[in-house]
Formats: sequence, C-alpha cells, structure tokens
Amino acid sequence: MEFFFRPKTVAVIGASHNPEKIGYQILKNILSFGYPGNVYPVNPKGGEILGRKVYRTVEDVPEDVDLAVIAVPARFVPDVLESCGRKGVKGVAIISSGFKEVGNAELEEQVVNIARRYGMRILGPNIFGVAYVPGRLNATFGPAEIKEGKIALISQSGALGIALMGWTQTEEIGLSAVVSVGNKADVSDEDLLDFFGRDENTNVIVIYMEGVHDGRAFMDAVRRNSKPIVVIKAGRSERGAKAASSHTGSLAGSDLVYSGAFEQVGVIRAKTVRDAFVLARALAELPEPRGENTVIITNGGGIGVLATDAAEEEGITLYDGPDLAAFKKAMPPFGSFRNPVDITGMADPSMYVKALEIAQENPNIHSIALLYCETAVCDPVELAEGIKRVYDGRKPLVVAMVGGEKTEEAIRRLNEAGIPAYDAPEDAIRALSGLYRWRRFKKKRRSE
Ligand code: ACO
Repeated sequence: MEFFFRPKTVAVIGASHNPEKIGYQILKNILSFGYPGNVYPVNPKGGEILGRKVYRTVEDVPEDVDLAVIAVPARFVPDVLESCGRKGVKGVAIISSGFKEVGNAELEEQVVNIARRYGMRILGPNIFGVAYVPGRLNATFGPAEIKEGKIALISQSGALGIALMGWTQTEEIGLSAVVSVGNKADVSDEDLLDFFGRDENTNVIVIYMEGVHDGRAFMDAVRRNSKPIVVIKAGRSERGAKAASSHTGSLAGSDLVYSGAFEQVGVIRAKTVRDAFVLARALAELPEPRGENTVIITNGGGIGVLATDAAEEEGITLYDGPDLAAFKKAMPPFGSFRNPVDITGMADPSMYVKALEIAQENPNIHSIALLYCETAVCDPVELAEGIKRVYDGRKPLVVAMVGGEKTEEAIRRLNEAGIPAYDAPEDAIRALSGLYRWRRFKKKRRSE
C-alpha cells in the first residue's frame, strides 16, 4: 500500500495534451501540489505536456515506476496494464469508468487478473484518484489544494469525494489523505484501514461507503485498528440501496445489519456528510475526556437550552456539583452558575476567558462546551483570540458561535488553531458525543 501514498515515482498514463481532459488535470495537480518525486507523462503521441517530456509507453520511462495513474478509456486499460506489469509498476490507480458499475464485470475481472499475474495492486477502477497530503501527492482530478490535517477520507463516490475535498478546504478541515476507491476491484476498505491505522499522519478515518464486499473482513480490519473510524453509510432506504447498486455495483445489504455490525466493532456512524466531519474534526484534534462530566458555558439562555437538549439526546452527562459556584467569579451577579453556566449577555471576552480557566482547573469537569451568541459587548474575533490564548489542551473543548460575518471569521480562526468550532450549539455537542462514544467503546473493548 505504501506505493499508493509514498511513491518515489509516478507515471500518468493518458496524460493528455488537452487541458480540458482528465489526464491533463491529474498531471497538473501532481505538479502544482509540490510532489517531490519524479513525474512522467505517458501518451503514444509523445511531445511535451506542462514542460515535461512525454514517454510513448510506460516501459520507456528511464527509471522504476512505483505508481501509475491510468486515465485512458476502459477498453485500452488491459493493454496499458500489461505494459505496467512488464515495467514492474507496483501500484496502479485506474481512473477510467466503464467496468462493473455499468455491467462490464468481465473487463474488470480481466484487469484484476493481469494485475495479479504481475503482483501489482489496483486502486479502483472508476475513481478520481489518490492524495496523500504529508507527501505532497495530489494525483486526483479534484481541487488542486488540500488543507493538511489528520483526517483520512476514503470515498466510494467520485463526485461526492471531489466535492468534499473542496468543502473541507473552505471549512478549514485538514486532511491527511483522500482516497477514491470506486469499484474496489482489488484494494479494499480493509487494506486502507490497515494502512491508515499505522500511518502516523492520520488520527481519524472517515469513510463514505455504499457497501462492503466482505463484511467479516471489514469487521476484522476495524477491530485491528486503534483509531476512530467514522462511516457515512449510504443506501439506508430501500430505494437508496438500489441507487447505490447502480452507482458502484455495491450490494448495499440490509441497513440494520450494517448498523449492528458497526456497533459491535465500534464504528462511529454518521448520518450525513456534515455530521461525519463534525465528529471527525473533534476526534482528530481533541484529547480523550478523562471522565463523563461536561460543562456548558454560554452567554445566551436560548442556545444553552438547545445545547442541553442535545446533550441529553446524545447521552452526555452535564455536571452538577457545589464547586460550580466558582463560576460566579466569571459573571455579573445576575448570572447563573448552574450547568449550563450562563455568564449572561453582558459577558465580554475577559469573562469567557475567566470561565474557561475555571473549567480547565476544576478536576471534576472533564470536557467543556463554550457557546456564544453575537452581542455588541463581546467581539467574536477578540473572544476567539482569548480562547486560543488560554486553552491548555488538557481536556476537550468545543465551541459554538452563532452570529454574522465576524462570527464566521472567529470560527475560522479557532478551527485553524485546532479548536473545533461550529456555527450551531447542537454540532458542538454532537462533536463531544463522538469523543464519548469512542471513549465508551474503547472501555467496553478493554473490558471484553
Ligand atoms: N497509453 C497512454 N495514453 C493513451 C493511450 C495509451 N495506451 N491511449 C490513448 N491515450 C491518450 C490519448 O491520446 C489522449 O491524449 P490526447 O488528448 O493528448 O490525445 C489521452 O490518453 C486520453 O484519451 P482519450 O481517448 O482522449 O480519453 P478521455 O480523456 O476523453 O477519457 C477517461 C479518458 C477520462 C479515462 C474516460 O474514459 C473515463 O473513464 N472517464 C470517467 C472518469 C471518471 O468519472 N472516473 C470515476 C470517478 S470520478 C467521478 O465520479 C466524478
């Protein structure tokens, strides 16, 4: 699997002279993202593309090739693969569509057999590529830029995967890798789970999945993995399952079976893509809570109540103890130190900072949700800077900020600093619940 993520050399087969074509875009992304290894465009027409000499076949490339990205029409793929095999290519990412997903299972089988004969691994077919951010490899035809972080994204859907690459960038969500798995003819979710389980640059794995080929193998791979795995499993409805079947040729299977299996092995299931990243961001950035007690600090009664409701729904314990009276020092006399701690609409950044310090120092409090509604007396950007300055990273802290443009900027700054911040109190609470689900599962696993 190393060859897909840390290749020393990459060939782009079907690198096109035409900037509109996928083969051109992939080459362009590899070059512009700053890949440090050698890149070889391959096209029978020869010439030059993006200033690089083009080789007529991969066998003409003057050195060993670790990874070949293939972007030629499906019917030419077997010949190209034979050529890769003769060259001794290690890993092949097949971008081309037109295999099992359109009923062309024979062609897919032929391709797998060729690869097996030569001992090559295949990613795909029917994929948008692979990216490994710490190695500055972006062999995709998705966005040229990817923000670096600790979340590995594995997507069975091409278009959605590409869209998520763009979305994570604007949402300040950092990724370690993006892998399009497409038809999963050879490289499976299990192979990738094993790779990312060992990868020091990845803390959390997010999978958009329509189906698995071998349920038992998937469950075993999850069990072997010590990192949190968040799955968005599409095809929950009967009709959705049928759509998945025609999309990637997956047998979506009974959703109840998936839910049961996920629960057994500790997969954290997300209903929506947004949810998945709400959870993943917190799991990637925050320490594990040492205990069950959460405190909510807010300047608005309303969002405090919403967060409290969400906490109950998500199974989060709100701490009640006489020591909460310490929060009196961080609020005007008419505030409320009961959890949710209401430091009132008069709260300014210094009161928030004080409240955060009190929560951090209290050993009976294990996680903190800080909520803010935009007011004229508390500048959100100033608040974000105050939180960044004071937060010591020992316990989980999530922030929700509700307001206008300035608030958006504050959220961006916090996320950039690795403090998960959201624009809705429910999201902040759900983020914490992901940490607790993972903590409880690990405890259960240990006791078993
Ligand atoms: N070796 C190397 N290059 C070759 C070979 C070969 N044997 N045969 C042809 N080529 C060259 C062509 O000459 C061409 O280069 P040129 O433009 O300079 O002439 C280039 O390879 C591409 O070949 P085309 O025939 O022009 O094919 P095109 O670029 O139109 O399409 C592609 C190829 C992109 C692989 C297409 O067949 C395909 O499968 N598209 C779907 C991709 C996709 O959607 N993937 C799924 C996931 S992503 C998602 O869902 C959004």
